[in-house]
Amino acid sequence: MSLQQFVAALDDLADDAKRAFDAAADPDTLEEARIKFLGAKKGLLKSIQKQIGSVGKENMPTAGQRLNEVKSLIEQTFQATQDRLTGDAADGADPTFDPTLPGVAPEIGHVHPITQTIDHLMEIMGRMGFEAAEGPEVEDPHHNFVALNIPEDHPARDPLDNFYLSVGDGQVSRFVEGTRLLRSQTSTVQIRVMEQRQPPIRIISLGRVYRPDAPDATHFPMFHQMEGLMVDRNVTMANLKTVLRIFATNYLGDDVEIRFRPSFFPFTEPSVEVDFLWDGNWVEFGGAGMVDPNVFKAVGYDPEQVSGFAFGLGVERLCMRRHGITDIRDLYSGDLRFLRQF
Ligand code: DAH
Repeated sequence: MSLQQFVAALDDLADDAKRAFDAAADPDTLEEARIKFLGAKKGLLKSIQKQIGSVGKENMPTAGQRLNEVKSLIEQTFQATQDRLTGDAADGADPTFDPTLPGVAPEIGHVHPITQTIDHLMEIMGRMGFEAAEGPEVEDPHHNFVALNIPEDHPARDPLDNFYLSVGDGQVSRFVEGTRLLRSQTSTVQIRVMEQRQPPIRIISLGRVYRPDAPDATHFPMFHQMEGLMVDRNVTMANLKTVLRIFATNYLGDDVEIRFRPSFFPFTEPSVEVDFLWDGNWVEFGGAGMVDPNVFKAVGYDPEQVSGFAFGLGVERLCMRRHGITDIRDLYSGDLRFLRQF
């Protein structure tokens, strides 16, 4: 190898090394490149160094000097790259890093509009002395139907209108012993509370219910209800009407009007459907009525001693009315552009 060839090999190596260091995007890659070029045993610089004898005795000092220069050049390039990658460019030498720029703020989420509505409803009803109660979403037919005076042949118990769960051998049937279903109404909580406590009772229960409805602008297979129950001596329909009116004016505004239409529910007698007048339209928000004596008997209360009212309102409907939401599916699409508005 001539001196010229030796020097050319060194220069090429310096170029290659710089290119490899520049391309390294993380410390591991950089370390690999360091070993490749500067490795003490098998590094490329080392293998050129081993050939220094072939330049001839008289050229050795020049070749040696050049070798040292290239070595420290490669080492410097390595060091600079390492500083860049490990953020140790303490003197601010890296022109791509501007410490005065504002950082990226972590995004903080917020409570879902339905949860906000639930909190609001609990607060309004709480001021009238209604305490929040809860019940399970997986229910047995006794609490979802039987104790609520809904007979076996009632259409509301049809598997087409309920999510019955599979039991044991995988059979899904309402007639199988021990069958369970996703509750179709929060009226179940009336039963659960009355089984546990004696009157006077004044509770609300806010939670999810499930029905196999195809989703459209006003239906969704899961939605929320607010159930209310008041049981005491001499509770009358006038109490029911007053409580619902106070609730409606608090939640929807002072000018809201309330209307009761005669209806039928197995667990109330008489039963009504509850409409609120809103922007000139009567909108149905749920059902209500005086607790049926059969329901009291099912939980061991004496219907001669106590009376009560119950109501069940759709939470999504209330939330949508108040906020001008026109499609229930928007609430459950998970689209942040929608949710961020609340
Ligand atoms: N549970 C009924 C439903 O889901 C709503 C309802 C009606 C609840 C009348 C009540 C009531 O408490 O008294 O359609």
